Amino acid sequence: MSAQINPSILAADFANFERELGHIASADAAHVDVMDNHFVPNLTFGQPMVERLQAVSPIPLDLHLMIEDPDRWAPDFAAMGVWSVTFHAEAATAPVTLAKKLRAEGARAGIALRPGTPFSAVEEILGSFDQLLIMTVEPGFGGQRFMAETMPKLRQAHEFAKRTGLELQLQVDGGITTDTIGIAAEHGADTFVAGSAVFRGEPAEQIEALRQAAAQ
Ligand code: DX5
Ligand code: ZN
Repeated sequence: MSAQINPSILAADFANFERELGHIASADAAHVDVMDNHFVPNLTFGQPMVERLQAVSPIPLDLHLMIEDPDRWAPDFAAMGVWSVTFHAEAATAPVTLAKKLRAEGARAGIALRPGTPFSAVEEILGSFDQLLIMTVEPGFGGQRFMAETMPKLRQAHEFAKRTGLELQLQVDGGITTDTIGIAAEHGADTFVAGSAVFRGEPAEQIEALRQAAAQ
């Protein structure tokens, strides 16, 4: 599979989302960071906002829920017709049940791990998921430094998927730039979330540069 680039609109102009989504139309999906000010110390988009983004986006939405009690809230997001919904392993009470509900709503089910959470936390339940998100920064804010210490966990996930024949998309999120994307690709990632690296310059050019850097 060729590298997928999912720009994070956390780094976009919050007054112009429709226009900003147009600027990243050449990407594979728009990554939407939903934060509730409890699971992480930051607050971003609620359901009415995501509903509007879904209505106007030219590309699929890849939701990253950094919220408490995803068991309660995640299915409502999936029901909006988004492409994928990823919730945090640290926050969910019944992750497999929740994954089933997300899939029943037609969304891909994703599970995310904070940098400090080991792969063993999800190893036994991965068969219920379509994607695994390995956080490469502490969730909450854009523009942080890539944590190379998460790479052994990424490789572990990649090896596990290969060994067990799991069709699992492996996503990395945080500090991804043309300098770091190659390292993540080497360790088995196939989907790359990038916020500041995309919106800091001309988005279409940055997306292309990231694609090329991932392939090298
Ligand atoms: C952080 C978010 C990321 C963030 C990445 O909690 O999950 O998606 O937008 O931003 P950059 O690419 O700037 O590190
Ligand atoms: Zn994210």
